[in-house]
Amino acid sequence: MLRFLTAGESHGQALVVIVEGLPAGLHITLEEIQAEMGRRRLGYGRGPRQRFEVDELALIGGVRHGRTLGSPVAIEIKNTEWFRSDKWHAEMDPAPGATAAALTQVRPGHADLAGMQKYGFTDARDVLERASARETAARVAAGALAKALLRTIDIEIISHVIQMGAARVDPETARPTPDELDRVDENPVRCFDIAAADAMVAAIKDAAKEGDSLGGVVEVLGFGIPVGLGSHVHWDRKIDALLTQAVMSIQAVKGVEIGDGFDVAGRLGSVAHDAIHWDTETERYRRRSTLAGGTEGGMTTGELLVVRAAMKPLATLNRPTLETVDTATKESAVSFKERTDVTAVPAMGVVAETMVALVVAAEAQRKFGGDSVAEFQRNASNFEATLIDGGR
Ligand SMILES: Cc1cc2nc3c(=O)[nH]c(=O)nc-3n(C[C@H](O)[C@H](O)[C@H](O)COP(=O)(O)O)c2cc1C
Repeated sequence: MLRFLTAGESHGQALVVIVEGLPAGLHITLEEIQAEMGRRRLGYGRGPRQRFEVDELALIGGVRHGRTLGSPVAIEIKNTEWFRSDKWHAEMDPAPGATAAALTQVRPGHADLAGMQKYGFTDARDVLERASARETAARVAAGALAKALLRTIDIEIISHVIQMGAARVDPETARPTPDELDRVDENPVRCFDIAAADAMVAAIKDAAKEGDSLGGVVEVLGFGIPVGLGSHVHWDRKIDALLTQAVMSIQAVKGVEIGDGFDVAGRLGSVAHDAIHWDTETERYRRRSTLAGGTEGGMTTGELLVVRAAMKPLATLNRPTLETVDTATKESAVSFKERTDVTAVPAMGVVAETMVALVVAAEAQRKFGGDSVAEFQRNASNFEATLIDGGR
């Protein structure tokens, strides 16, 4: 079954990701992975760092002549800053040595202090280099493979921003479809609704003027997901639980809901569930709404999958506001950095897509198996055929 592991520090030589369990015969190119990684750098409100952190990739295992071999796929994402200058060489040298200047002013809202206490470090860099969201570049590379696998059975995963600070998309507005993803990506905040997007850009400008930051909410949508991924039989096989854990693992994500999760909690039961009917045209059971986000009892229902992720405002601010402590002296200090991003919500949406794709691909493989893509596709379409006439 599909699983992946990332390694590497933000200012080290490279990030590495190993993706294991992909079937043989999946067509993939370096350019496709690169294109997906370029989407992670999108978004108004991000600083110049995104321009010099270009992702230089090398496929170093598991792919031959443009298709997977069934062996682990290894991808290296070189840190171009490392190769273009020697700025980080001494600081991040794996050989024995010491830092020139330990970071001891721990930043609130970051992993610095808890990580130093947990691992017994005196330099916050020992923690923050790995805790940094740069690691999500490796996840997005893995996600490109998961998406390619899902496409072989006509599943598409996309995302769009539905809230930035207080500016939000009207819930009645139509959602984008996979064909409209380019339009989402072309928008400076990756929002499908132009009026809401304008309000979001204005909110970012206002926050930037104040040296402040913004959080927001993204919605990930899964199209063409078959019935029955995940299971009701065990807590750790429920697909809603797997999706939630995966999306919550993204840096700065503090809330995840499936469908209208938090909103339905305030409704009466009579208007909180998706009614079921038999659709004579498609000869399928259908739900009349997407309140449950395409899952029931820990299994996918065959309806649109809806996963939302709430991201906190970035903790590093462009103005000295947040109180902290210097761990070397225990004296009070103020956390501050010049020239940091105002928001990373549009980029987080791409990472959330990735995490959803990785979970759905792993569960699709658990259900359909197959050592080759052809076998995986055959098993998926055989199962689909059993659903004709309702699947009884
Ligand atoms: C794509 C992306 C980019 C991020 N960029 C920043 C940033 O520029 N500044 C910042 O303070 N936090 C940034 N974060 C969030 C921090 O990495 C995160 O808040 C921190 O590691 C602590 O983890 P936690 O918020 O999950 O507790 C980013 C997160 C993501 C997903």
